[in-house]
Amino acid sequence: MREVTLAGLGATTSCLGFGCASLGSRVSEALSVRALARAHAHGVRWFDVAPAYGAGAAEPILGAFLQGRRADVQICTKVGLLPPAQSAPVHLVRSLLRPAVALARPLRAAIRWSGTTANLRVPLTPDLLRNSLDRSLNRLRTDYVDVYALHNADPDDLKRDDILRTFEDLLASGKVRTVGVAADAAAARAALACGTPFGLVQFAQPQGADDLAAVVRAAGVGCVTHTVFGVAGQLARLTARLKANDALQARLVDAGYGGTPEEAAAALLMARALACNPAGVVLASMASERSLLRNLAFANSPPDPAAIALCNAIGL
Ligand SMILES: NC(=O)c1ccc[n+]([C@@H]2O[C@H](COP(=O)([O-])OP(=O)(O)OC[C@H]3O[C@@H](n4cnc5c(N)ncnc54)[C@H](OP(=O)(O)O)[C@@H]3O)[C@@H](O)[C@H]2O)c1
Repeated sequence: MREVTLAGLGATTSCLGFGCASLGSRVSEALSVRALARAHAHGVRWFDVAPAYGAGAAEPILGAFLQGRRADVQICTKVGLLPPAQSAPVHLVRSLLRPAVALARPLRAAIRWSGTTANLRVPLTPDLLRNSLDRSLNRLRTDYVDVYALHNADPDDLKRDDILRTFEDLLASGKVRTVGVAADAAAARAALACGTPFGLVQFAQPQGADDLAAVVRAAGVGCVTHTVFGVAGQLARLTARLKANDALQARLVDAGYGGTPEEAAAALLMARALACNPAGVVLASMASERSLLRNLAFANSPPDPAAIALCNAIGL
C-alpha cells in the first residue's frame, strides 16, 4: 500500500481509506468485521467513521475490531449528525430485509425515500462537541481520535468563537490529534480561510475542481476525498457510455483500463481520485472483497496524472 504523510496531522497512513458509513446498516455486523479485517490485512490504515454511520452501529463495530490494533491505525470521527431514531421493530425489519435490499436497487431507493435512514442534524454547541467526542471515544474503545471533524458543517459555524475555543481545549486535552471539516468543497475552502485549528478537510472529489486537493496541500492541511464513484451514478453513467461506444472502450484499454466496461470505468475513476489527491487519503466503501481488490490495484502504485488528463479528454 502506498503511504502518505498527511499535512496538518503529521501521521503516516495508507493512501486508501476505509469508509465506514454502511457498517451495521447496509452491511451486516459479521460482514463488516470481515471487510475491516480484509482491508487491514491489505494495509488499509485510515478509517473514516461518524456517530451517524451504520444507523449508529459503525463506531461500535469499528471500535471492537480495532482492539489491539489502535496504535497502527488512524481514525477520523465526526460531530454534528445523529442517526435516525430506530425502534426495535424497525431495526429488526431492516436487519431481516438486508439480503433483499443488497440485491434490489429500487428497494434501497425506497428505503432512502421513506426517510427512515435520514440522519438528524444537531445544533453545534461547546457541550455537544465535548459530549459527542466522549461518546465516540467510548464506542470506539479508545482515548483519542486522530481527527475530530465537523460533519456536514455550515461554513458559518467555522468562524464561531465558542466552537474554535472548544476545539482548542479538546486538542490540549490529547483526546483529539487534529480538528477537521468533513463536508463539501465550500466548507473545505472556508476551513482553509480560517486556518488554525483546522488541520484536515474532507470533501467529495468535486467534478471540474480537480485542483482543490493541491490548494489544500499548499495550505499545509491534510486532505481526504470521497465519492469516487459518484452517489449520483457517475460509475453507472461511464459504464453505460463504454458499453455503447466501442471506440471509447478501446481508448480506455489502450490507457491501461481493461476488463468489463464496469471494471474499466471503476478503475479510471479510482485512478483519477488518487491522482487528484496524491498526498492525501481517498476513501471508499469496501464491504466486498471485489471493491477492495479493485481499489488496491491502484493504491499500490504511484498516482498517475494521466488518469486526470484522460477523464478531462473524455468529458468526465
Ligand atoms: N460528509 C462526509 O463526511 C462524507 C460524505 C460521503 C462519504 N463519506 C465517507 O466516504 C466513504 C465512502 O463513501 P462514498 O460515497 O465515496 O462511497 P463509495 O466508496 O463510492 O461506495 C459506493 C459503492 O461503490 C462500491 N465500490 C467501491 N469500490 C468500488 C470499485 N472499485 N468498483 C465498483 N464499485 C465499488 C461500494 O461497494 P461495497 O462497499 O459494497 O464493496 C459501494 O457499494 C463513506 O463510507 C464515508 O466514510 C463522508
